[in-house]
Amino acid sequence: MQSPPDGAGAPPAIEATDLVKTYPGGVRALDGLSFRVPAGTIFGLLGPNGAGKSTAVKVLTTLTRPDSGSARVAGRDVLREPAAVRRRIGAVAQKAGFDRELTGRENLELQGQVYGLRGRELSGRIDELLERLRLADAADRLARTYSGGMQRRLDIAIGLVHRPEVLFLDEPTTGLDPEVRAEMWEEITRLQRDEGITILLTTHYLEEADELASSLAIVDRGRVVAAGSPEQLKGELEGDALHLELEQPLDDGIVRRALERVGAVRELALDGRHLRARVDDGARALPTVLAALGESGVAVASVTVSRPSLDDVYLRYAGREFAKAEAEADQRTAEEVRR
Ligand SMILES: Nc1ncnc2c1ncn2[C@@H]1O[C@H](COP(=O)(O)OP(=O)(O)O)[C@@H](O)[C@H]1O
Ligand SMILES: [Mg+2]
Repeated sequence: MQSPPDGAGAPPAIEATDLVKTYPGGVRALDGLSFRVPAGTIFGLLGPNGAGKSTAVKVLTTLTRPDSGSARVAGRDVLREPAAVRRRIGAVAQKAGFDRELTGRENLELQGQVYGLRGRELSGRIDELLERLRLADAADRLARTYSGGMQRRLDIAIGLVHRPEVLFLDEPTTGLDPEVRAEMWEEITRLQRDEGITILLTTHYLEEADELASSLAIVDRGRVVAAGSPEQLKGELEGDALHLELEQPLDDGIVRRALERVGAVRELALDGRHLRARVDDGARALPTVLAALGESGVAVASVTVSRPSLDDVYLRYAGREFAKAEAEADQRTAEEVRR
């Protein structure tokens, strides 16, 4: 285990312990959810639709109470000190939170006033955020004229006006096209650095959690099924996938004999010119594999080594593929609607 990035002893920015939440109708959205978020990091709550991510965010931002369990955010207890928690956090919901008929600046002013900010302090903070979120040129236009990406950035700016210690972003890039999503990733990384805050984001995009989160919890059916840094989680999977394309189809026996001497190769499968296998450390094993094949006169046309993806991690811990879990969740939602 690596030591946590916040250093020993520093209290986590978020600590959720055994959260349970059942909705009327019997859906158990949270089923003993626990995780910790080191201060000053970006943490990803990754799970398919219906996993309980938004419910977790609602509990942690004091919008709803759990049936049982406890949580601390920015050093305060969400159940006993909800007002203190609210002062220390910013929350950007899945749905837009701004007033479409006000300008960007007016939206920010309104939000600042809610938190008791006035005068130069407020206008200075607003200018800073407009600049930081690349909205300065559009500041005095009505928010309804903003593009999708700009609207999302305005939502984030609103969440930051009162300088929260912890920012919650619920599915910050859902519905954005890929180009705008990539911009948003940069934005979020920069914010964490410049504002020095802790960010919890939820996502059902594996690559988003991989790209942004220094640590993450994979959530399935209201529980954490795996937690760690993306690298740790992927590292726990056994080995890399090796795919070699041979110059010509060869007899299985020749290839097997050649590779028998390379101990690390497992699950060898040869199909015509395509050779697939798993190895512990692809980058390290590859030269040995190629040398062994070369000595046996096996010519190789191309090689790929792929690291395990978070999808592989999910498959291992949740027992089914991510896309399949999404489909199941959609099915459940359809059934709930019909009932
Ligand atoms: N207000 C609600 N009433 C009843 N069921 C709900 C409500 N909100 C969410 N659910 C159900 O709880 C489960 C978790 O939902 P949610 O927390 O929104 O998951 P996610 O954000 O991961 O998609 C789902 O099965 C969803 O249908
Ligand atoms: Mg959600």
